[in-house]
Amino acid sequence: MRYGFFDDKAKEYVITTPHTPLPWINYLGSEEFFGLISNTLGGYCFYRDAKLQRLLRYRYNNVPRDTGGRFYYIKERGRQAWAPGFKPCETPLDSYECRHGLGYTRFLAKKDGLESSLTCFVPIGETCEIHDLTIKNTANVKKDVLVYGCMEFCLWNAVDDSQNFQRNLNIAESEVEPGVIYHKTEYRERRDHYAYYASVSETAGFDADRDTFLGREGDWSDPQMVRNESSGNYYRVGWYPIGCHRLEVALEPGESKRLTFILGYAKNPRDKKFIAPGVIRKDTAKRVIGQFSDPAAVDAAFEALAGYWDGLLAKFSVESGDETLNRMVNVWHQCMVTFNMSRSASFYETGTGRGMGFRDSCQDLYGFVHIVPDRARERIIDIASIQFEDGSTYHQYQPLTKRGNNDIGGGFSDDPLWLVGAVCAYVKETGDFTILDVPTPFNNVPGTEVPLMEHLRRCVRFTVEHLGPHKLPLMGRADWNDCLNLNCFSEEPGESFQTFGPSEGPVAESVFVAALFVKYAGEYAGLCETVGLDDEAKAVRGQVETMERTILSEGWDGKWFLRAYDAFGAKVGSSENDEGKIYIEPQGFCALAGVGVSEGYALQALDSVRENLLGEYGAELLAPCYTRYHVELGEISSYPPGFKENGSVFCHNNPWVIIGETVLGRGNYAFDLYRRICPAFFEDKSEIHETEPYCMPQTVTGRATGEPGHAKNSWLTGTASWVFVAVSQAILGIQPDYNGLRIKPCLPDSINGLTVTRVFRGAKYIIRIKRTGTASLSADGVSSENFEVPVKPAGTVTEVECTI
Ligand code: BGC
Ligand code: NOJ
Repeated sequence: MRYGFFDDKAKEYVITTPHTPLPWINYLGSEEFFGLISNTLGGYCFYRDAKLQRLLRYRYNNVPRDTGGRFYYIKERGRQAWAPGFKPCETPLDSYECRHGLGYTRFLAKKDGLESSLTCFVPIGETCEIHDLTIKNTANVKKDVLVYGCMEFCLWNAVDDSQNFQRNLNIAESEVEPGVIYHKTEYRERRDHYAYYASVSETAGFDADRDTFLGREGDWSDPQMVRNESSGNYYRVGWYPIGCHRLEVALEPGESKRLTFILGYAKNPRDKKFIAPGVIRKDTAKRVIGQFSDPAAVDAAFEALAGYWDGLLAKFSVESGDETLNRMVNVWHQCMVTFNMSRSASFYETGTGRGMGFRDSCQDLYGFVHIVPDRARERIIDIASIQFEDGSTYHQYQPLTKRGNNDIGGGFSDDPLWLVGAVCAYVKETGDFTILDVPTPFNNVPGTEVPLMEHLRRCVRFTVEHLGPHKLPLMGRADWNDCLNLNCFSEEPGESFQTFGPSEGPVAESVFVAALFVKYAGEYAGLCETVGLDDEAKAVRGQVETMERTILSEGWDGKWFLRAYDAFGAKVGSSENDEGKIYIEPQGFCALAGVGVSEGYALQALDSVRENLLGEYGAELLAPCYTRYHVELGEISSYPPGFKENGSVFCHNNPWVIIGETVLGRGNYAFDLYRRICPAFFEDKSEIHETEPYCMPQTVTGRATGEPGHAKNSWLTGTASWVFVAVSQAILGIQPDYNGLRIKPCLPDSINGLTVTRVFRGAKYIIRIKRTGTASLSADGVSSENFEVPVKPAGTVTEVECTI
């Protein structure tokens, strides 16, 4: 069943019913101010940090679900109130549409001869949301309409806000001016920022106290003030601060009125916080409100946002005969949201928990470096700066301070190697070798700076210096699969698998990290060759070859690659095991890295994936799933069979298999797996899949659950970036390299030809790929034996003809 459709021309997903299986959300904002917005207007916004500087309150576990966010009520006098996004009133609408676009969401509703259009977006360069509401009278009688806009403020720190009631119910403070409510809790002491909610049109009343507005026993679906068609006009200190405006709009038949609301964040210089005792300085809010009082300025900001997105998306687009492929690659797979959010704020990540993950941020970068190379450069230096001198690293850092975060510890054996991948991806994309010279500290300690290249060297060295009994890399705390905790042995409920136990043991080893090493130490060697460090390149190549041989001798199980050796030296992911006989990660990554390709092992491994792990919704992480808790394996066996790391389709690792299939030249299998995990291809099963059809989820229940196909944790997952890499570089085969663009498509039989438009280092390449049975490549008529198009001057356009 579908709940909407793609509008490709508008680059929107159009949701046609509020009754989606889960809230289907979108993101607003592109710089410092961000909002999450669901198809029923739920969600919240924040300035830079979703935990510490949150503007709106949101209750994740609420019943009914997704109540909270931006409350709008429309009420014709004497009639029942309704909401332009269906919630919170839930009054049935005559028609409803939610259009999630790039950086904005628009709600279109009709009810009893009234039509509303509400567009929410964050203007570029501003720290506010605009809620641009137009109401039209489509009836042939005059209508007197009341409009309420209401925001429930969070007391800034979202964790404290949900816990510390003995304090919180005494601290709320606001200031009220006609048409504007300023939320200034804690401003009297250490904060220098405030929030404001404004109506640029004349208001007829306000509320600043939640209980007055709702009524003591009230709820958001039917506030007392709305029911009574009035306002409390009441402000008090403490309790629950809100910003609510009542507007009265008289509409002649056919007449429409545009009402703009602004929800913003503003900050003052510390020494200029007050303009009179207790009165906050409001210059910023007044400037913004003044500016957007002009509807032309709202239109211009909306157009600027569209222009901004067009600029980002212009870097890569494809026209193939497959419209789902086109729309996903051209719009929805592009990874700005994971760049902006990392794993912090979604409908599954509360914004209060996790900082920026080292490995997550590195891998995310593979997918967006072509879109925002400058910001990728800055991100790389931030990430590398939390590394320790021995090459290991904190696992996370805090986005506001950019400091390593000790709460989640370190010692994850894979982390450093992803940094090599990130830097190589950046240099290949940009040709900017100067990044390798940037003085970069260890653990952010001033005075410890060394060139970034030295950080990479230590990333590689870390693995080589931490090998176990089979000469495979030690597992450490965990590797990419942070639920495979081989040194943890946790017996106490609630203990964190991520930090309990030693961060490294001398025995447990990871075959997956061995494959990761082959790939990224190999990349490092290539980088060394490119910058003329030939001796080092040779030495590292030697280490890579040794590792490859070790995988083939110590990491091969007969039909697939082993996953690991545990702390007792026993095999994990072997046919000898009763449960967890085969894991997906080493199969995909070995093939991707070229391990065992010439020996036929990679082919056999990927065949085993198809045979043992492949289901309708993708390839599962392991099989058979663990049915009981294995203390020697850790969190992986804490999940019921078929959930999360215990054998769900954990989408992130499927693109590794997709890429691996293209290494083997199996375009059909690659594309088949892509179609199984990408929900746009099975939109008509949305009632099963449940999360948004326009973005990737992290996990989809596996067959062992008995209810396969239910997705969770959409949007913020490493899958987003890896799927873009798999499709753009492996299937379509457009691979940025140090000296140019390498073109190596591996298409399914269903696609005979396509055109990719790629902007690379400022030059445009129009690449036409045709299936003829003979492989050839020419750029502007000059043929290329090695399938590489050299870098062209910025501003030029090159026509590339590629046959396969
Ligand atoms: C989840 C992982 C996640 C880890 C760290 C585990 O419970 O299953 O997917 O990476 O927690 O937050
Ligand atoms: C999600 C985490 O964000 C990521 O770092 C990890 O690799 C996967 N879970 C797999 O466990």
